[in-house]
Amino acid sequence: MKADNNCIVIFGASGDLTYRKLIPALYHLYKIGRLAESFSVLGVARSELSDDSFRQKMREALIDLEGASGEILDKFCNHLYYQAINTSDVVDYAKLLPRLDELHDKYGTGGNTLYYLSTPPSLYGVIPECLSAHGLTTEEFGWKRIIVEKPFGYDIETAKALDIQIHKYFEEHQIYRIDHYLGKETVQNLLVLRFSNGLFEPLWNRNFIDYVEITGAESLGVEERGGYYDGSGAMRDMFQNHLLQVLAMVAMEPPAIINANSMRDEVAKVLHSLHPLHKEDLKNNLVLGQYSAGSIEGKPVKGYLEEKGVPAESNTETYMAVRCQIDNWRWAGVPFYVRSGKRMPTRVTEVVIHFKTTPHPVFSQNAPDNKLIIRIQPDEGISMRFGLKKPGAGFEAKEVSMDFRYADLASPSLLTAYERLLLDAMKGDATLFARTDAVHACWNFVQPILDYKAERGRVYEYEAGTWGPAEANKLIAKHGKLWRKPSGQMKKKV
Ligand code: BG6
Repeated sequence: MKADNNCIVIFGASGDLTYRKLIPALYHLYKIGRLAESFSVLGVARSELSDDSFRQKMREALIDLEGASGEILDKFCNHLYYQAINTSDVVDYAKLLPRLDELHDKYGTGGNTLYYLSTPPSLYGVIPECLSAHGLTTEEFGWKRIIVEKPFGYDIETAKALDIQIHKYFEEHQIYRIDHYLGKETVQNLLVLRFSNGLFEPLWNRNFIDYVEITGAESLGVEERGGYYDGSGAMRDMFQNHLLQVLAMVAMEPPAIINANSMRDEVAKVLHSLHPLHKEDLKNNLVLGQYSAGSIEGKPVKGYLEEKGVPAESNTETYMAVRCQIDNWRWAGVPFYVRSGKRMPTRVTEVVIHFKTTPHPVFSQNAPDNKLIIRIQPDEGISMRFGLKKPGAGFEAKEVSMDFRYADLASPSLLTAYERLLLDAMKGDATLFARTDAVHACWNFVQPILDYKAERGRVYEYEAGTWGPAEANKLIAKHGKLWRKPSGQMKKKV
């Protein structure tokens, strides 16, 4: 199904996200014929630019990042427009009126408008108010939807305040809180794996699962984003949103049907069931770290405190590991170990389901435990690990693996996360966007962790290129478990 004809207004059009992700995503959708028949993109930012110079900048980005060329590129760029306004000044929004009228007329978009907030978060509350002051939020003439980038709030209070502010001008069904992890094919595949196979469901609970590991590791550091990152840290940047959403996909109950509300009801339910971690629990269940200089793939890399934009005394965590529990019938007593870090040895996001061992070890003391490894990225796929007989005398068990690589299924037109989510928003499908109750549930869970962190001393140090501070190993080892050390690749086929 194609999206309705519409105009996409990108606030923050001179920013990184616009040229690195949004414009390439729209270009690819256009190229494969998935965009509406008639559409336009209006970039909005402070800098004075003509339509032509905006087109030229975006064209260069597309050539650089996508290897775009030829007639399709020319045609796509003709749909791009630009309007300079001071986004914090309500008066300036008057300039948008004639521009939008002109575009809606020219493209027959019937007033359908998708606003994309890709600005600094301080403007997330301001822009809806200014749009509304000029009548740009009413749905009398076409639908109006708004995509809000993360972070949605800085803590529970600011998230609630932002919600109140946006809800003054947009109804919940018009608000699309984007978490690009939900746009990843492999995150969605978690649901298909769980809910389309009779094989896993009977095992997917406290009776058969010993513990769950969720890892979101990156080998990159903070790059050019030191200023932003230092105010966020791993907790707000990765855990509060991306990793808790992945946890929800692993742990949620099956919805009766797949639609935006029933899916999001189940997500909210499981996030509300996270066992609150208070100060006393956190002493034993949380490890925070910050990378010092080290090396990755043989190349020396700086420590966090030497990164551009990072204050010399910063105590911001670039690594976090936490032991969570879910208070419901399915998961009572099953720990979820979640970790995320920058400057880890490799980039990998994966979920590992560790099954309980056999009740009595007949063959050897060291029989491997059964694991289901769900590789979200890179080298997307699924690997089942179990024991089989080691050839030769005796009955020794050896771990073998049965692997599926997602690339074997993928067609060349597989959508990236931003492509999928932009398309869904244009179609009015909010299934893969975070609903207000789920966002609050995540903040409610994270808030005591943030408070605890603010009170305690320095975070631990770990050398860049390692799997985090030694204390993270103790956190899991004291419960008799081990973190997996994922390589950049899935095992080759057995
Ligand atoms: C972003 C974070 O939301 O997700 C970044 O702000 C992080 O710090 C990125 O690097 C990770 O996304 P992905 O898709 O590369 O795993």
